[in-house]
This record gives sequence, C-alpha cells and structure tokens, in this order.
Amino acid sequence: MKPSLNVDFLGIKLKNPVLTASGTFGYGYELADLIPLNKLGAIVTKTITLEPRLGNLQPRIAEVSSGMLNTIGLQNIGVKAFIEEPLEKLNKVGVPIIVSVAGTTVNEYVDVSKILSIQNVISAIELNLSCPNLKKKIICHDLPLVSDIIKNVKKVSEVPVIAKLSPLVTDIAELALCAQDAGADAVTLANTYPAMAIDVKTFKYKLSTIKGGMSGACIKPMSVRCVYDAYQKIDIPIIGCGGIETGEDALEFMLVGASVVSVGSASLVSPKRLLEIVYEIEKILKEKSIKDIKRIVGMLNTAKDAC
Ligand SMILES: Cc1cc2nc3c(=O)[nH]c(=O)nc-3n(C[C@H](O)[C@H](O)[C@H](O)COP(=O)(O)O)c2cc1C
Repeated sequence: MKPSLNVDFLGIKLKNPVLTASGTFGYGYELADLIPLNKLGAIVTKTITLEPRLGNLQPRIAEVSSGMLNTIGLQNIGVKAFIEEPLEKLNKVGVPIIVSVAGTTVNEYVDVSKILSIQNVISAIELNLSCPNLKKKIICHDLPLVSDIIKNVKKVSEVPVIAKLSPLVTDIAELALCAQDAGADAVTLANTYPAMAIDVKTFKYKLSTIKGGMSGACIKPMSVRCVYDAYQKIDIPIIGCGGIETGEDALEFMLVGASVVSVGSASLVSPKRLLEIVYEIEKILKEKSIKDIKRIVGMLNTAKDAC
C-alpha cells in the first residue's frame, strides 16, 4: 500500500511535504511547462517587497564546492504588480501559495502583508527576516525587531504567518522561541549562510557585493542542526530548509522535527528534482512500512539535548 504523504500544515492541506524555497522558483508559475506544478506540496514565491527592486549588480551567483553563493538583492516587481499578474497565473496552478515578504522597516512588512493577506488565493505569508534593515543590520540579529515585525504583521494578516529565520545567530532555538512568542504560526529553518569566494584567476571577488548567502548540499548538516535545536524549544511547526537534494535529505530534516521541507538550489539545477524528492520519500517510507509521513516528524528528536 502507498504511504500517505498528505500533511495538514497550519490548516493548509498539502498533497506532500515538499515545497519550493523562496527565490529559487521565480514567482512560482514560470516552470509550468517543465513540471506538473500541482504535484508539489506548496509553492513559496520569491520575496515580494512594497516597491519594485532591481536587485544587486552582477555577478550575483557563484558556484562553490557542493553549493552556491547568491546576492540577488531581493529583485522583484513589487507587491502591486505581483498581484496583477504573477499571482493570478499562480492561482491557476491549483497548489497552495505561500508568499514571501520582506521590508526594511516594520511598516513595510506590515503594508505588504496587509495587501497580500486579503487576496483570498494566498494560503500563508512567509516573512523573510534574513535581510538587512535600514541600518544594514540583519533583522534576525535584533530580537526585539523580529518580535515587533511578527506581532504587527499578525495584527493585520488574515492568513498564517511563517517566520523564515537566519541560521547565523548564536542560539537558533532562542530566535525561534522569540518568533513563536511574538505569534508566528510556524518557522522556516533556515535561510542561507553569509559567505564569500574569490576568483584567483582574476584576483576578483566572485560576487558584486563581496559577500552573499551560501546554499546547497554543503549547508545541509548545519541546517538540520538548526531544526534539531529549535524543535526542542518550540511548539509551532517547522519548515526544514537547506541543502535538500534527495528524499533522504528531506527525511533527515523531518526526523529531527520539520513538518515539511522546502527545496531551493537543487531545483535550480533541475526543477524535476522536487517531484523526484516526493517519489524518493514515498519509496523510503514504503521500504520501512511507515504508512503515514506524519509519524516520522521529530521521531529521533525526543530527548532534551544534554548540552
Ligand atoms: C538564487 C537564490 C535566491 C534566493 N532568494 C531568496 C528570497 O528571495 N527570499 C528568501 O527568503 N530566501 C531566498 N533564498 C534562500 C532559499 O530560499 C533557501 O532558504 C536557501 O537557498 C537554502 O536552501 P537550499 O540549500 O535548498 O537552496 C534564495 C536562494 C537562492 C539560491
């Protein structure tokens, strides 16, 4: 018998626990000719801001061992244009839509979330809290600001609010707890890791902004650790994210507490990977005679960590 991959995530009915990761799947509808998008668990859009953004100068992407660096700079068409076209096309796909939101101030987060949450086709909002604020400080490094953004977005949002956190903090569990206490309905763990690379042929930095975010297979063990630590402290569900390339990778995150996963860099290499991951999860559960994916969430993460 086929195992059940259905997940009820924040009241959203997902066919399976595999989501796209923000920023690696465009606005979400563009790849409809390449893969059947309605077979995904949900689509998380690229981050949308109040005003359009051109993003950073090229080069914005660089390959590194087992992964990549990016410094896209939140390029997007702004919330108004997003609602006019991409959202309408995305809605026709027939899959739950989670829209990623960012801003440089609390008010910007609130304004974008307010506009989006009344579009009745959106299932949830994911707050990208890993970007810099007006003072160029990463939002997640300022717990009162994280709390303020979540509390204020929750006041205006008609849909669940997910906080996507930066892994580059001293204590990820404390940050996740702060998000929970502020009213977040779930957390995504985690975003990219600050990193840099140099081209020794040209003696130049590989990214226009010198530093960028590292993603791909090389970050997986660090991101799994984030989920492990946070799961021990919080009660809200976790979206596991970072370096997932296979069904086995996805299950690693779920075994330590992720309810669902999102896949980024691997889908840039091949969008089909997303559906192959779904198939691989199903195959592993079948081999282990596990009838329902929900049974494995946190299965390994039962004891409180000694350290
Ligand atoms: C090219 C690129 C663009 C990204 N853009 C965003 C974004 O707009 N918003 C966001 O929250 N995360 C963004 N991310 C981070 C991913 O959503 C994801 O958290 C990260 O890449 C780790 O997952 P992965 O190793 O599966 O790629 C981006 C990542 C990449 C590689």
